[in-house]
Amino acid sequence: MTSFDPNRFVLEHDREHPKEILRAAYKAFGELTISFSGAEDVVLIDLALKVAPKEDVHVFSLDTGRLHAETYAFIERVRDHYGIDIDVRVPDTEAVQALVREKGLFSFYRDGHQECCGVRKVAPLRRRLAGLPVWVSGQRRDQSPGTRSSLQVAERDSAFGSEAAPLVKINPLTHWTSEDVWTYIRMFDVPYNALHERGYVSIGCEPCTRPTLPGQHEREGRWWWEDQDGKECGLHAVNLTPQATTTS
Ligand code: ADX
Ligand code: SF4
Repeated sequence: MTSFDPNRFVLEHDREHPKEILRAAYKAFGELTISFSGAEDVVLIDLALKVAPKEDVHVFSLDTGRLHAETYAFIERVRDHYGIDIDVRVPDTEAVQALVREKGLFSFYRDGHQECCGVRKVAPLRRRLAGLPVWVSGQRRDQSPGTRSSLQVAERDSAFGSEAAPLVKINPLTHWTSEDVWTYIRMFDVPYNALHERGYVSIGCEPCTRPTLPGQHEREGRWWWEDQDGKECGLHAVNLTPQATTTS
């Protein structure tokens, strides 16, 4: 949908409840595709199913092959709870085999996480997003002060879209805090990952995620051996580039 203007969408919907942001996005695109891995995304699924028919709400998850057993159980629980299909995407076998053959199973501790994330997450995401007009992500501004503090409720995704095939990313939870998310989860009995009961806050792959202590920022539980700034795995590479969209 080339006529969609993210700046205008932000001006009109920035401070609305995420449900209304999803309603407006559905009105503009006639479909919603949600990338699902964590607590925020299930809130989005719950809300999306309140504003759009099930057949227009598409949910996918990137199975890196390195997720916790609890995360697989969680994906299955969400599927059963909402009676929806979840498109679980896997990385390219050859690419994973080549990486592991050459560098072993834990190269990210030595070389940084970008290469492994590139193979296991970013390439599968690129394949999944190809040709899509819009995707919905559960990012929040306060999730990552280094990279997400300028997040917008709607933005053009220049990392995965192009001039010829523009892609819009909708971030309905931009202004929500972790507390808002958990209030919603409790209020509406939304399924969550059992790891949250064991001190995990932000959950990614098993070798790259650890619980956080009281007072630590949630992002400190991810890729903790790396610098705190610029911690993006490539799914949200657009956060690292200056955006045309600007408000509040
Ligand atoms: S990450 O880039 O650092 O891994 P984060 O865990 O904060 O991302 O999640 C932010 C959003 O990215 C999620 O709300 C979800 O939309 C998307 N996302 C992250 N990991 C995955 C995954 N494995 N599969 C699908 N979507 C994901
Ligand atoms: Fe690899 Fe860790 Fe990235 Fe998962 S989070 S894809 S294991 S580097």
